[in-house]
Amino acid sequence: MPHTVEVRSVTKIFGNQRALSEVTVTFHGGEVHALAGLNGSGKSTLVKLLAGVYSLDGGEIAVNGQVVGDLTPASAGEFGLQFLHQDPVVFPHLTVADNVSVGSGFRSSSRVHVRRRREDQVAQHVFKRLGVPHLDPKRQMSDLSPAERTMVAIARAVQDLWTDRGVRLLVLDEPTASLPEHEVKLVTDMVRRVAAEGVAVLFISHDLSMVLDLADRVTVLRDGKRVDTTATTELTKQELAASMVGTADRSPAALSTSRAPNNAPVSLSASGISGGKVKDASIEIRRGEIVGIAGLLGSGRSTLLRLLYGAQPLHAGETKLFGTPLRSGSPRYSRKAGIGFVPEDRRKDGALPTMTMADNVTIASMDSFASPFWIRRKAETRSASETMEQFDVRPRDPEKVFRLFSGGNQQKAIIGRWARLAPKVLLLDEPTQGVDVHARLQIHDAIRKLASDGMSVLVVSSDFAELLELSDRVLIMRRGQLKGQVDPADTKEEQLLHLAASDDA
Ligand SMILES: Nc1ncnc2c1ncn2[C@@H]1O[C@H](COP(=O)(O)OP(=O)(O)OP(=O)(O)O)[C@@H](O)[C@H]1O
Ligand SMILES: [Mg+2]
Repeated sequence: MPHTVEVRSVTKIFGNQRALSEVTVTFHGGEVHALAGLNGSGKSTLVKLLAGVYSLDGGEIAVNGQVVGDLTPASAGEFGLQFLHQDPVVFPHLTVADNVSVGSGFRSSSRVHVRRRREDQVAQHVFKRLGVPHLDPKRQMSDLSPAERTMVAIARAVQDLWTDRGVRLLVLDEPTASLPEHEVKLVTDMVRRVAAEGVAVLFISHDLSMVLDLADRVTVLRDGKRVDTTATTELTKQELAASMVGTADRSPAALSTSRAPNNAPVSLSASGISGGKVKDASIEIRRGEIVGIAGLLGSGRSTLLRLLYGAQPLHAGETKLFGTPLRSGSPRYSRKAGIGFVPEDRRKDGALPTMTMADNVTIASMDSFASPFWIRRKAETRSASETMEQFDVRPRDPEKVFRLFSGGNQQKAIIGRWARLAPKVLLLDEPTQGVDVHARLQIHDAIRKLASDGMSVLVVSSDFAELLELSDRVLIMRRGQLKGQVDPADTKEEQLLHLAASDDA
């Protein structure tokens, strides 16, 4: 009998919000089951109920037909429920084998070298069974590629598969979101292997093509309710997106087009700048222009943005804003001069998690409300609501504490915060990572509008389709250097990937 993990009529309430409402789904061993839904639809909440992080407000969870009662993070493991969170914790200075053995039952008291050999054997065994025998347990974690690190985290989660404890369900919350395109397949192949061993795999991703490709069935959540569970063979990407979005007020925003005239004045320029990975980069962006940067992981894309913003000092070269030199290594000066920067890890880098959404959205612009506190407070809330509307942050509750918003909604809010400061130049690192299909269009539209009002935008994204959709032109970056540019109108995603990956050393 294949394993089953069932959630039966599960409900979770936060304050006056039903994050999940009587959701019923069965996860079958041997099957990859995707969970899809817009930001805030309840996906992570369902995962946290299974993990015993939240307690149920209604319904029950059953493993192989047995109701499991109140799960805790410890008891979830005993029932064979395993989790891989978006940024799995790895220990970079330990070996692969050490990382696999962390959290496993046997930390025997035997002498170090005996234990080591045992750990190496266990890791090797798990890798072999999962089709990745080339992963060497003795390697240091920090030497692995991002995909390999994810694979080690998966191995750690499912190592009990061949012991008495067993593994019934493996849950992966966006395991591939931060992986470079060409490494995604390594991880998805491994996920299939895990399912083939009889485990039920629950998989969350905003990448709908991948969902259809990898999963056998997909359950769509909308506003905390289950819309449908469908075999992926019977579903197109458009149908899946439509089912996530529903009807009503979420029809995609009308696309405005920004095409900056070639004779617009140059806003931001850099000549021969170097620093960190970046070598001798020169760039000119015009007023109203959206410029994309395509490069592989490690090509220096994010460093380039940090250099332009002054978050990292220049070793050589010069940057100017409308002809006036900027100060190297001074983000404060850059911000005052009119440059905005939304870093890649904005939830860690830019948010005040325990303050309200209104605080977070308006924080950088406090001085514009120079009036008594209570009046300011009201103005702040009103203006935060406008930004939440513009960037589709849900729920529209400015007084809700920031960290209680779903991952994607936090992302949207931080971009909104910067946009409302109306900088002359906005630098965006991975603007739509972790946001849903609808919000992605919404963010693109907001960026285009800002550009058509004269803002210059520089975008880094691992999603090359996004770069081609959004940008007026796309610059290619390889090994710290800018290597020419393409016109999105006559470039295909594969060509861009090829250009970014080609080796001309
Ligand atoms: N601890 C909490 N307290 C209050 N509200 C919460 C809490 N956790 C989640 N929520 C709310 O529940 C809803 C569902 O959130 P959840 O994190 O499950 O969404 P999600 O589908 O995972 O979205 P995303 O794609 O953005 O990650 C959201 O409106 C969120 O604000
Ligand atoms: Mg989530």
